[in-house]
Amino acid sequence: MIGRLNHVAIAVPDLESGARAYRGALGAQVSAPQALPDHGVTVVFVELPNAKIELLEPLGEESPITGFLKKNPAGGMHHICYEVDDILAARDMLTQAGARVLGSGEPAIGAHGKPVLFLHPKDFCGTLIEIEQA
Ligand code: CO
Repeated sequence: MIGRLNHVAIAVPDLESGARAYRGALGAQVSAPQALPDHGVTVVFVELPNAKIELLEPLGEESPITGFLKKNPAGGMHHICYEVDDILAARDMLTQAGARVLGSGEPAIGAHGKPVLFLHPKDFCGTLIEIEQA
């Protein structure tokens, strides 16, 4: 059921210095910052040949990554996103297998305009998982 790796998201306290590290030392293509107020983050996309890295900086008081950055002040890996063909079928298989889907269980529209769900990190090796219907 699990498909391609879509992106790895890294929470950062300072987007500009994060982008500089990827652009400079790693020689990566890094997009301009995009504010996503509905998601409480400003993001830059690092384009790799086989996937994306997203650097996320908190935006607004209610940002979902503020708490994470309190615990990880230097930044850190926040989640991994895997593609699935059919998000509702994937959700049903996951819940049948005992995995916990976060929130209401209904897909939300993610940062790329596609339906996404998040899975409880305790069920997947301590890593927050996002699934996206690609
Ligand atoms: Co994501």
